[in-house]
Amino acid sequence: MEIKTVRALWFSPTGNAERIAVAAARTLSERFPAPMDTLSLNRPEARKHEYAFTPTDFVVFACPVYAGRLPNKILPDIKACLRGDNTPAAALVTFGNRAFDNALAELVSVLTDNGFRVVGAGAVVGEHAFTDKLGGGRPGVTDLRALRTFAETIADAVRNGTASGMTVPGDPAAPYYVPKGADGLPARFLKAKPKVDLSRCHNCGTCARACPMGAIDPGNVSDVPGTCIKCQACVSRCTRRARFFDDPAFLSHVAMLERTFTEPKENAFFYGRLT
Ligand SMILES: Cc1cc2nc3c(=O)[nH]c(=O)nc-3n(C[C@H](O)[C@H](O)[C@H](O)COP(=O)(O)O)c2cc1C
Repeated sequence: MEIKTVRALWFSPTGNAERIAVAAARTLSERFPAPMDTLSLNRPEARKHEYAFTPTDFVVFACPVYAGRLPNKILPDIKACLRGDNTPAAALVTFGNRAFDNALAELVSVLTDNGFRVVGAGAVVGEHAFTDKLGGGRPGVTDLRALRTFAETIADAVRNGTASGMTVPGDPAAPYYVPKGADGLPARFLKAKPKVDLSRCHNCGTCARACPMGAIDPGNVSDVPGTCIKCQACVSRCTRRARFFDDPAFLSHVAMLERTFTEPKENAFFYGRLT
């Protein structure tokens, strides 16, 4: 099968999914060879369109793991946005060194239902959005090297016409992981919203523009009238380090993660049947 364009797409509030989508797509683009383009689905406006792909596109889609699944508030948009036509694809998730649980199986299932032929899938460790004590600095050089080998393998299989659809371990409909606090009990921080340190904030609006839910009032960034998904885009993109979470249940969950999940985790890659 001749691939005419490699398309890297991502939902990536703090940048890790973007990094792995672009890295994998670059390798595929060199290997086919075929030109590459990119599309961010971070902004709500970008997720209002339908994007239709052809059998000669190769789509790389990457997304973070939230509570062991795909981000539940974004998933309906992703399902509505992406339309394949037996389009070969690679499904990638990035997880913050706890576990990817059922997220990769869910992504493969969503893409397959939407007309894609998923020929490779991977879960890559990325610095946890809540704390750099989990997966700090990842994906690093070693992760990107592994991703390169993954992308080369699937490019060759597609070029040789030997790549077929696939399944990965996990249950796409499994329950979400329940975050625990430092006391081991469920930590309830669904309603937590980011605060602003007014001694640092210049109301520049960067956080409002970065918010994938459009939840922050751009005219007065202290006001967060919309739904917060705790993605940390506002915290990580603020150049003045003015945004923070002080919700006690959230901080207790972060303390539990830092106590329990610092041992570096392995990436995982899966391939369609290479016949
Ligand atoms: C709300 C939320 C829930 C998360 N849940 C998990 C999880 O269940 N397992 C895990 O290992 N990492 C989890 N993470 C960490 C992210 O998967 C990780 O930071 C990812 O690399 C972020 O991708 P991004 O930089 O593209 O936004 C979670 C992060 C957030 C914000």
